[in-house]
Amino acid sequence: MTPHGPPPRQGPVALHYARPASTPALKIPITQNPKEIAGRLAADLAQDGMVLGLGTGSTVYFTLVRLAERIRDEGLDLHGVPTSIDTEQKASEMGLPLLGLDEVEHLDLTIDGADEIDADFQMIKGGGGALLREKVVASITRRQVIVVGRDKLVERLGRSFRLPVEVVPFALSSVARALTALGCETYLRRDKNQSAYTTDNGCQILDCQFPDGIAAPHQLELDIDAIPGVVESGLFIDLAHVCVIGSPDGSVEVRERPAPS
Ligand code: 5RP
Repeated sequence: MTPHGPPPRQGPVALHYARPASTPALKIPITQNPKEIAGRLAADLAQDGMVLGLGTGSTVYFTLVRLAERIRDEGLDLHGVPTSIDTEQKASEMGLPLLGLDEVEHLDLTIDGADEIDADFQMIKGGGGALLREKVVASITRRQVIVVGRDKLVERLGRSFRLPVEVVPFALSSVARALTALGCETYLRRDKNQSAYTTDNGCQILDCQFPDGIAAPHQLELDIDAIPGVVESGLFIDLAHVCVIGSPDGSVEVRERPAPS
């Protein structure tokens, strides 16, 4: 009998990720690394002819690997704009064709990671220090796909991860005071030699700890951006469209951003 009425509503897609059955199991085992599962699945959203934004971090690394495989195996014509020197180096070692930001007006799809993402797809980014370039690339992207392990999903931003703020070195102390007045403690990010960490843009990062997390992310982004000497904050507001979530059991969920309430 033909069913009547609209089709049932679809919930989030829950897929189990496994390599093709023909793959020799001993050489390439089925992965249960949530970052690899999410990173690889997102690369499959890229289509022939697209110009992609290439995010930064250990999850996006797997996206780069998969994109390189698809270019090789499917002959796809893809180009990428990297969001950091690190990604630029990795992508070019893998043979991904790259473009500079000045060569594109917009990007079809960007795949990037996140340090925290809430139910409205608001995010903290910048754990890898690439927040400025990541936000510039996101701002000219038609579809921003975020790849994370399930542990990055949070109810409220900033409870466990410190919010990175990129700052012009000259203004470090005045910006730190202004950030403190917004209710946080600031920590100058340091590199492995204990020197002040320097971003790809020659700036420094203050990591901000809010005692009870960030109650009003939109307003906080405006307040931080208004401080002279701030280059960019790691709050990514209304920039993500899709979230690909890998889980340790080998499953992956693809969520579309919920409509604003
Ligand atoms: C870099 C970022 C990264 O996307 C974020 O830190 C997540 O990284 P990972 O995938 O390694 O957990 O914002 O600036």
